Amino acid sequence: MAEPVLRVERAFKRFGGLLAVDNASLAVEAGRITALIGPNGAGKTTLFSIISGFLPPSEGRIFHRGADITGMPPHLVARRGIVRTFQIVQPFAGLTVHENIAIGAHLSRRSRAKALEAAAEVASTVGLGDLLGRPAASLTVAGRKRLEVARALAAEPELLLLDEVLAGLNPAEIAAMVPIIRGIADSGVTILMTEHVMQAVMSLAGHVFVLAEGRIIAEGAPRVVVGDPRVVEAYLGHGAAARLSAAGGVHV
Ligand SMILES: Nc1ncnc2c1ncn2[C@@H]1O[C@H](COP(=O)(O)OP(=O)(O)OP(=O)(O)O)[C@@H](O)[C@H]1O
Ligand SMILES: [Mg+2]
Repeated sequence: MAEPVLRVERAFKRFGGLLAVDNASLAVEAGRITALIGPNGAGKTTLFSIISGFLPPSEGRIFHRGADITGMPPHLVARRGIVRTFQIVQPFAGLTVHENIAIGAHLSRRSRAKALEAAAEVASTVGLGDLLGRPAASLTVAGRKRLEVARALAAEPELLLLDEVLAGLNPAEIAAMVPIIRGIADSGVTILMTEHVMQAVMSLAGHVFVLAEGRIIAEGAPRVVVGDPRVVEAYLGHGAAARLSAAGGVHV
């Protein structure tokens, strides 16, 4: 099999006495959407920070197409093509949508005109084409999430790490965002996404990893993973799988 785009090998992250990531290994294959799901506090964002160079792992290795990138700073990881979004979106409020996206585009383009040109193109991909001149501060939550995706996309990633880009959106906004994510994948960008909105995971992801208390407890096709008793228990608490199956099964 071809070398995966990304391989995380036995990663650990300790924050003082807390083991946030506990011996996690995963691989992301090129050309598909992989989801990383798990309850709040499972360690998903921490793992994203490790992959993208924002945090060094306490132990373990990160490989990009077979090359060891463990401990590489974020701007160099991004130059290699691995770019993340942030769960807590903080655009430069005083800058326009266009200028915010251009910040991402500058990673691979020196010229301001070229960066702005690329930013405008990316803006239309995520449905912000009509809002280029608006201050970022005027965007709704859904608009800010799109802006965050656009900023990352403007850096022309090979692997895009999406950290809960649907969080805080209403059902209509989620329904509008799902095809945008699919479109990005269809354009050839490999995606690793964390997400709590299971319906979106089910419709988008080809492969799912489940993280609970820092550990990968299950992986596989979305339909298989959500029926796994260990996954049900991680979300709903100990004994939940047995209680649910006694009550007639789990429907997702
Ligand atoms: N910088 C930090 N210092 C100390 N503890 C941290 C730090 N970052 C995260 N943690 C802790 O590590 C654990 C994992 O947090 P993380 O944010 O990675 O979880 P998550 O799976 O992304 O959760 P959520 O679904 O709520 O976004 C939590 O217990 C969190 O409080
Ligand atoms: Mg998180």
